[in-house]
Amino acid sequence: ISNLQSYLTAYQNRKYSIGFVPTMGALHKGHAELIKKSNNDNHKTIVSIFVNEKQFNSKDDFNSYPRNKGQDYDFCSENEVDILFEPSVEEIYENDETIIKNINFKNILCDKYRKGHFDGVITVLNKLFTIIKSNKVYFGEKDFQQLKIIEKFIEEKYKFLNLVSVPTKRNEEGIAYSSRNEKLSKKQIQDFISFHQQTENFLNSLEKSLDIETANQKAKDFIVKQDIEKLDYFEFRNNYDLSFNGTLSDSRLFYAIYKGKVRLIDNLKV
Ligand code: PAF
Repeated sequence: ISNLQSYLTAYQNRKYSIGFVPTMGALHKGHAELIKKSNNDNHKTIVSIFVNEKQFNSKDDFNSYPRNKGQDYDFCSENEVDILFEPSVEEIYENDETIIKNINFKNILCDKYRKGHFDGVITVLNKLFTIIKSNKVYFGEKDFQQLKIIEKFIEEKYKFLNLVSVPTKRNEEGIAYSSRNEKLSKKQIQDFISFHQQTENFLNSLEKSLDIETANQKAKDFIVKQDIEKLDYFEFRNNYDLSFNGTLSDSRLFYAIYKGKVRLIDNLKV
């Protein structure tokens, strides 16, 4: 941290603007989009890699989360990252392990199925924002509920910080890049692609003027016919407040499904 801080002070003295991309490593093309945007907007870009145990609600999930340090280092240098910050658990949590409780967008979507997950996310971000006093911070729309929760958190606690959201990067078949995709077998990827494509077709079959409640009835009929091992949720919600109010034109379809043990989430603009 002290090494990092000497760089940060030098940057601040030169009035450089700093963009920050927090990650848990296993970097992929989705992260590259965030880094690219930060490089465009700022003089310097900092990426952090920290697999934050406090946001995992299962020890197994934490232990099996993909880690590939060597590749991440190459990735950062290829993507012109200025500083890679990879703190130890002690550096982040040694002095204070108090969990900050998230109070926004509670008991819905991922918060309902991953109890305490978002508490862990804002707890670690609170630490990282205090260490790295950047001007801007970058998050992907793939984790849309996370984005909304962080937006509120920043509004309340870090008014000087600008949050920039970046649209989800997808592969040719349309599935979102995610570190968890690395855990899928070839067959599971093919099944997931086919699920994604059918979901896209389902979306395209709906009128944008349809109200969200009615669309969710249709979503239920659609999803029971799919071959899915386990489903947490598959539902339309309003873009702005994640409620069930409004029509499809201002909504997204949110889902969390399992392929084997791998939990996959996405949200699709209607
Ligand atoms: O989205 C992630 O990778 C993590 O939740 C984050 C924001 C880096 C916090 O650990």
